[in-house]
Amino acid sequence: MVDFSRRQALAATAGAAALAAAASSTRAAARPAAAPPVPALPAVDLAPRERLSLDFDWRFKLGHAQDPARDFGFGANQGTYAKAGRTAAPAELDFDAGAWAPVTLPHDWAVELPFVDNPAYVPSGKPDDGDPRAAHGYKPLGREFPETSIGWYRKTFALPAADAGKRLSIEFDGAFRDALVIVNGYILEREDSGYSPFRVDITDIANVGGDNSLVVRVDASLGEGWFYEGAGLYRHVWLVKTAPVHVPQWGVFVRARVDGTLSIDTDLVNEGEARAEFELLHTVLDAAGRPVLTPAAAPGRLPAWERQSLSLTVTLPRPVPWTLENPHLYSLVTEVKVGGAVVDRYVTRFGVRSVVFDADKGFLLNGASVKLKGTCNHQDHAGVGAAIPDALQVWRLEQLKSMGCNAYRASHNPPTPELLDACDRLGIVVIDETRRMSSDPTSMDELERLVRRDRNHPSVILWSIGNEEPQQATARGAKVAATMKRLVNRLDPSRLVIAAMDQGFGEGISAVIDVQGFNYRHEKMDDFHARFPHVPVIGTESASTVSTRGEYARDDAKAYVPAYDTEHPWWATTAEKWWSHAADRPWMAGGFIWTGFDYRGEPTPFNRWPSVSSHFGALDTCGFPKDNYYYYRAWWRPEPLLHLLPHWNWEGREGQPIAVWAHSNCDKVELFLNGKSQGVRDVVPNHHVEWSVPYAPGVIEAHGYKAGKVILRERRETAGPAAALRLTADRSRVAADGQDVAILKVEVLDAKGRSVPRADDLISFTLSGPGQVIGVGNGDPTSHEPDVASQRKAFNGLAQAIVRTRRGQAGELRVTASAPGLKASTVSVAVGD
Ligand code: GAL
Repeated sequence: MVDFSRRQALAATAGAAALAAAASSTRAAARPAAAPPVPALPAVDLAPRERLSLDFDWRFKLGHAQDPARDFGFGANQGTYAKAGRTAAPAELDFDAGAWAPVTLPHDWAVELPFVDNPAYVPSGKPDDGDPRAAHGYKPLGREFPETSIGWYRKTFALPAADAGKRLSIEFDGAFRDALVIVNGYILEREDSGYSPFRVDITDIANVGGDNSLVVRVDASLGEGWFYEGAGLYRHVWLVKTAPVHVPQWGVFVRARVDGTLSIDTDLVNEGEARAEFELLHTVLDAAGRPVLTPAAAPGRLPAWERQSLSLTVTLPRPVPWTLENPHLYSLVTEVKVGGAVVDRYVTRFGVRSVVFDADKGFLLNGASVKLKGTCNHQDHAGVGAAIPDALQVWRLEQLKSMGCNAYRASHNPPTPELLDACDRLGIVVIDETRRMSSDPTSMDELERLVRRDRNHPSVILWSIGNEEPQQATARGAKVAATMKRLVNRLDPSRLVIAAMDQGFGEGISAVIDVQGFNYRHEKMDDFHARFPHVPVIGTESASTVSTRGEYARDDAKAYVPAYDTEHPWWATTAEKWWSHAADRPWMAGGFIWTGFDYRGEPTPFNRWPSVSSHFGALDTCGFPKDNYYYYRAWWRPEPLLHLLPHWNWEGREGQPIAVWAHSNCDKVELFLNGKSQGVRDVVPNHHVEWSVPYAPGVIEAHGYKAGKVILRERRETAGPAAALRLTADRSRVAADGQDVAILKVEVLDAKGRSVPRADDLISFTLSGPGQVIGVGNGDPTSHEPDVASQRKAFNGLAQAIVRTRRGQAGELRVTASAPGLKASTVSVAVGD
């Protein structure tokens, strides 16, 4: 849990703050080969099953946590449950929500709220004292903000007469949090968890052949974590229609062995009045959609209102393994026939791979040793908060991959399922984590839903049952962990269990978990390994340099920290110290840095207003790389790389020493200032090289040598004043589905086209065509500008806009970025199928 007592302690490594630095760049470093496009999965027609998006045409309005009169009458006179079907005004079918805001899911209302200082907070002066509201990113959520902590979502949907006799349900991928689901006035579900998926059967109260009202009251007064968590229906919602005899949610579990043996467990339910004679058929499709295996149909009989499990073991011919380089995905299509007719189809994606953790060899994927080059991440992004569109989810993972990252820890909660789909397709392995380490029925139920939902993903390699839990080193903790592990093992005998510990290594839950997770404290790993030579070890949270993109001196007023790899909280260390330690120990499986991306809340190291985002990321909240991104890329990817920092605009610092660093995997690097050599440095693997250079305007240029030859050059030039903008899009074509997004980057350039490293011009976005700017950002961890806006200041020369398409509207999106006095820039993105 959150430990404010250590949040403000910062171990500033000697000299960093003094080493101010600079410069604009002409980049010459080798780039990794362009990431292959995410392979499309074969489309499978699920008819007669239907799974329809309910993401569109919602209306949204804030309610009130204390006053029923301002909460649509909800709870007035304790009347909520008195008569089923009467709940609150918006639940009535004829309620007029015309004045409510139209929204499309995913939607996070917290991101639209202003940042609010905490006037009640008085620093105690103790070095460890942090403002508790900082943890959640200074958004007005919580019991002290009753007027902004309750959100009402409402939509209507029609069900055709042809749905008579079908089983109807609504599946929520997750809602933050305490969601009350009301359909046609009936309260059907109350889900506390802000991260767990849940399903609501609406068959009994649905108006088939008519309109239905769906209302969700979401209460974000309480949080679950110590970081920004968002608020609202921030994940997808689905309407599912099946025949009475069908595969229930998450009803198929495939375990695939590398020799091609498939164990397929299928659950079937009969939610009808008649006994069913059925046939169960499976077909395995390869990644290209070709059928590669069709086992014989299994006949059976299912009495009314019963559930049955059927197991089958078959062998896949010539299995293609799922690897990080070629994440081959199979699709298992399960068909249920009753009376000779197909009544249900269900698809399960899976991969064929083996995962082994070995105390001496580390992590083995398909028998080969793979060092886990992982990042921990929360689930928020600039502009959109927790409501990350699927395409942005993929884009974020691609940025991590481009850094060389091959592993993702979903800290500290079940991720949205689309994240795991993307990891399956991109070849990234995942530690999948439950939110609460407790064996109470609710926590166990959340854990069960996590495992059932995610156990087919080849990307998932470990189940994490907890993170730095207070009871981690106790006998009680061990009992709780054992109960949780028993459940996990029953639901998924194929994967091991881990927990992320920060103390008591070897005690308490250590005796229960299969793989020992170390949060920081890497200096204790050797001792642990010697004491427990049979226990595999992973750095579940490692490194944790705090840095602000493009800043090279500490600025306490603005709450910025230098982007050299020098500053870290006392419990953590630098990228270089962590990775040189990990790389030297083949027995260790590797680890997960804290964090891949900056995230809102936990604005370490300041933990006080005006700082609103963390500084931990190798990339900022927009996904713009910081300098440490290049440290990792140099040592996590095979391509030669040379990155130079800082920028070279140090007006007023002429003659003063500037620390110049290079992150490079070359043999040697030589630095030149305005053509004059500043010396050659030998590169020690997993370390940076540096010089101290008296500032003079002009050019610094680094030459990277391999086997005595210059193979890379990298420059930073003193840029002139801002003159123009350059707007680019991540893709030239996006889908007209109302969900796809283009991610736009704006760079501020001088008259010669060089990046202006400190530019903070206010950039406006105008758009024509079928789309909408849904969020903007700039990666500044102290910015209080609105995220849902059509303008944003640049931060150190960069800003971002996220543009979403409109459903069913093809055409061309033209977005122009403009700023006073600067040449504007326009980008076009085709919108189509
Ligand atoms: C860890 C914790 C993370 C985050 C991190 C910040 O102790 O597990 O959630 O708070 O510290 O350094």
